[in-house]
Amino acid sequence: MPPILRQFRSADSGAVVDAFADPDMARQGSVADLDQGGAWINAMASGTRHRHVFAIDLDGTAIGAVGVTSIDRENLTGWFWYWLHREHRGRGTASRAAATVANWALGPGRLYRLELGHRATNPASGVVAKAAGFMREGAERGKFLIAGNSVDVLTYGRLTTDPTPTTPPLE
Ligand SMILES: CC(C)(COP(=O)(O)OP(=O)(O)OC[C@H]1O[C@@H](n2cnc3c(N)ncnc32)[C@H](O)[C@@H]1OP(=O)(O)O)[C@@H](O)C(=O)NCCC(=O)NCCS
Repeated sequence: MPPILRQFRSADSGAVVDAFADPDMARQGSVADLDQGGAWINAMASGTRHRHVFAIDLDGTAIGAVGVTSIDRENLTGWFWYWLHREHRGRGTASRAAATVANWALGPGRLYRLELGHRATNPASGVVAKAAGFMREGAERGKFLIAGNSVDVLTYGRLTTDPTPTTPPLE
């Protein structure tokens, strides 16, 4: 079955812990055990006025997430992010999921602008951003100090008025 989007549920705790057991996930936070997995899921499900977080589900397992958080209802903006379990990368799933959620957030979700940033050393994230219709807006030089190295963050935005990407959406 192709992946689908759905809400996270408490039974996803183990899958979330497994996904976070990956050095590439370090900047997404720390989720080291089932309690922390449950807390992460609860936090993502709470305060839906200020956040919308979707699980990417493959055959009943949560293999990733796409979120719009820090929603500013006054300016109709939100912070956009995504991750995918390491074993499922490189198949276009993150791109399709991100495009689907961004299309939704700027349509039925009634936001005007989505923003995201990724480390310049993480080009796959930039490919996903562009596939989800985001445009490069700038760079925050030396934003992060990672293992003693200063790393730039590339910033992107997508507005309701920007073209809808051709990336095929998920259901
Ligand atoms: C970023 C992330 C979601 C991408 O997942 P993914 O499954 O590889 O994404 P997709 O398959 O949809 O697209 C990845 C694209 O990046 C490209 N890519 C991968 N590594 C690349 C590299 N080193 N340089 C350039 N492009 C690269 C792939 O070829 C693919 O492009 P294509 O669809 O045109 O072939 C995944 O790596 C991840 O979860 N990383 C950890 C968390 C993270 O960094 N999240 C983003 C924070 S801003």
